[in-house]
Amino acid sequence: MKILQALQLGNTTLKNRMAMAPMTRSRANFSGEVGESTKLYYTQRASAGLIISEAINISRQALGSPLTPGLFTAEQIAAWKKITDAVHAVNGVIYAQLWHTGRVGHSLVKQGDLPVAPSAIAIEGQQHFTMEGPKDYETPYALTKAEIEQIIQDYKKAAANAIEAGFDGVELHAAFGYLPNQFLADSANHRTDEYGGSIENKNRFALEVMQAICEAVGMGKAAIRLSPSSTYNNIKHEHPIEQFTALILELNKLPLSYIHLMNVPFPAEQYPNYPSNTIDTFGPLSKHPIIANCGYTRETGEAEIEKGIASMIAYGTLFLANPDLPKRFELNTELNQADRATMYGGADKGYIDYPFLETK
Ligand SMILES: Cc1cc2nc3c(=O)[nH]c(=O)nc-3n(C[C@H](O)[C@H](O)[C@H](O)COP(=O)(O)O)c2cc1C
Repeated sequence: MKILQALQLGNTTLKNRMAMAPMTRSRANFSGEVGESTKLYYTQRASAGLIISEAINISRQALGSPLTPGLFTAEQIAAWKKITDAVHAVNGVIYAQLWHTGRVGHSLVKQGDLPVAPSAIAIEGQQHFTMEGPKDYETPYALTKAEIEQIIQDYKKAAANAIEAGFDGVELHAAFGYLPNQFLADSANHRTDEYGGSIENKNRFALEVMQAICEAVGMGKAAIRLSPSSTYNNIKHEHPIEQFTALILELNKLPLSYIHLMNVPFPAEQYPNYPSNTIDTFGPLSKHPIIANCGYTRETGEAEIEKGIASMIAYGTLFLANPDLPKRFELNTELNQADRATMYGGADKGYIDYPFLETK
């Protein structure tokens, strides 16, 4: 199968074309440090061509959900170093996903601080998980230009910290309604300065962050994740095709290792202006390799790669439940099913105890 063949991605040779998609597991401690179980969790999955870590907070302000890890204190960097060393020791490759949650947070999780966003527009019709149970979203604080500049510097520092922590590269989380996605979205960005209004202005934040990250990590180690058709977290685009086309053409000018595109299903009747297939629409515009995600199986992943637009497929829940997923694809064996109850938070159950194939 093509999906099991090696691939050159940026600076790194990958042993296959299966990426482990980034998955928040909420098992860090209250200081945002990961521990021994996380080390085992990732090393168990090191047969992936590329592991993309769970989303990692770039700063104290970036944090939106309890028990998610960070990359902004010396202790957090040291904790991740143990994990990257262990992954490398078993021949794995691991990128850090860099996260600023923006308005997708709650003051109960943020030591009393309000979430921040491009504009003071709250998420409606959804609640946020806090240690005190689900809560309505608060109206976020609209960032000043100076504060936006500071956040770009925070991304840059976190990217440098990721390299110091031994990661092979970094992926900007610009998908699923988090801060960069909020700047991209007409529904979340009503700014009237150079970060809002036109498509060029709405794309500016993500591009400036990527530029800063590239400066921090160098050639072929920076990547970005986009979800043009996701409506999660109240994200809406008026002109998604024009906007993401412009964004990808600008990203072509940066020395990236890949663009990670999420082909998220959306209610097509409500969004007639959305492209029916994100990979087919935007993938061919990119001069960087494409990682495709969302809902792929062994067969549909192989077919997507055969089609020639995507170089890799990212698997989320399948990697969560099957630490040896490439081996299972090779042998075409049965798959463990993921347990939803243990996805976020908790201890080792549903984290490091999914069984490997019993090979004779
Ligand atoms: C438990 C869980 C946590 C997730 N956390 C993240 C995350 O931190 N960052 C991110 O970009 N996507 C996150 N996702 C989305 C996955 O990366 C992936 O896009 C999604 O599971 C769809 O891929 P799949 O159909 O192969 O599972 C998460 C998904 C799951 C199931």
